Amino acid sequence: MHAITVLPGVKNSARLDDIDDLKPSPGMLSVRTLALGVCGTDREIVSGAYGAAPPGHERLVIGHESLGVVEYAPDGASFSQGDHVVGIVRRPDPVPCPACASGEWDMCRNGRYTEHGIKERNGFGAQRFNIAPDAAIKVDKALGLCGVLLEPTSVVAKAWDHIDRVGRRSNAWQARTALITGAGPVGMLAALLAKQRGLDVHVLDRATDGPKPKLVKALGGTYYVGDLDGVLSRLMPDIVVECTGAVPVIGSLIGHLAPSGILCLVGVSSAKATELDLGAINRDIVLGNQVVFGSVNANRLHYQAAAEALARRVPLSHFAEALDNRRDDIKVVIDFSL
Ligand code: BGC
Repeated sequence: MHAITVLPGVKNSARLDDIDDLKPSPGMLSVRTLALGVCGTDREIVSGAYGAAPPGHERLVIGHESLGVVEYAPDGASFSQGDHVVGIVRRPDPVPCPACASGEWDMCRNGRYTEHGIKERNGFGAQRFNIAPDAAIKVDKALGLCGVLLEPTSVVAKAWDHIDRVGRRSNAWQARTALITGAGPVGMLAALLAKQRGLDVHVLDRATDGPKPKLVKALGGTYYVGDLDGVLSRLMPDIVVECTGAVPVIGSLIGHLAPSGILCLVGVSSAKATELDLGAINRDIVLGNQVVFGSVNANRLHYQAAAEALARRVPLSHFAEALDNRRDDIKVVIDFSL
């Protein structure tokens, strides 16, 4: 069968390989791949900057945003032939640390977790994959190809779960306004979940046309192009979900949160020396009771929350349209049925 593989650490080593066909494995689901989402992490792996092959192997099968159909399910599994499923990306470390031992592998304490298609575990970018039933999530078939959005939605569902938890530190705090910086797939899904929470949603991106402004409008949000400082002079957000990883954006956001505001960093920056006034940042955060925190990955509860959020289908028809759009792409998806 065909699989997309890379030589981790080597730039532009991605190729379509012929690998051994998988045999059904005892206790495992046998899944035929329908679609594979491509994100910034995949591009980083292809650039040679990230990723690790499974121990004892040179190449890594990439792909962590999966969608497949169950061809075989073992007796007693809560899956049936024909179900649409998505694989959970991260698997617990072998120790396991207290977080992994309690199912919170997204909060792994020792860094020895593995990730399908990213870190020491083959991914889902093959025509078929086998997966343990407890590492798979059932997706509403009615979502069709949009089921491939489950993994990025799980990342966003975790971010919102943690924002909600931080918000509960005050009995009186009630968020009204959410600003999302970056309208890529993660940003758009963050906006979708913000809207489902009843928040007044604002989204900032660089795209002047294409599907992004349309999608934000369809969500009932306000779309801004470019000028973050201009936006922040008019808006003091209670919550910001930062999805660009752009250092100037992060620098502007700190200092413009509402009192008790929360800034959740989801975008990953590249390391670069920057001059920031840490004294001013400290004053804003301390005197404003503000919280700035990072969020990555997702555990099973977040995948389930994501499946529910997507099943609510606020405007998924538009997401489907966005999946097809070539100019100003929001999400690139490889269709394995072609
Ligand atoms: C994936 C996460 C993963 C992270 C870091 C992201 O693209 O969605 O599941 O934990 O990369 O490897």
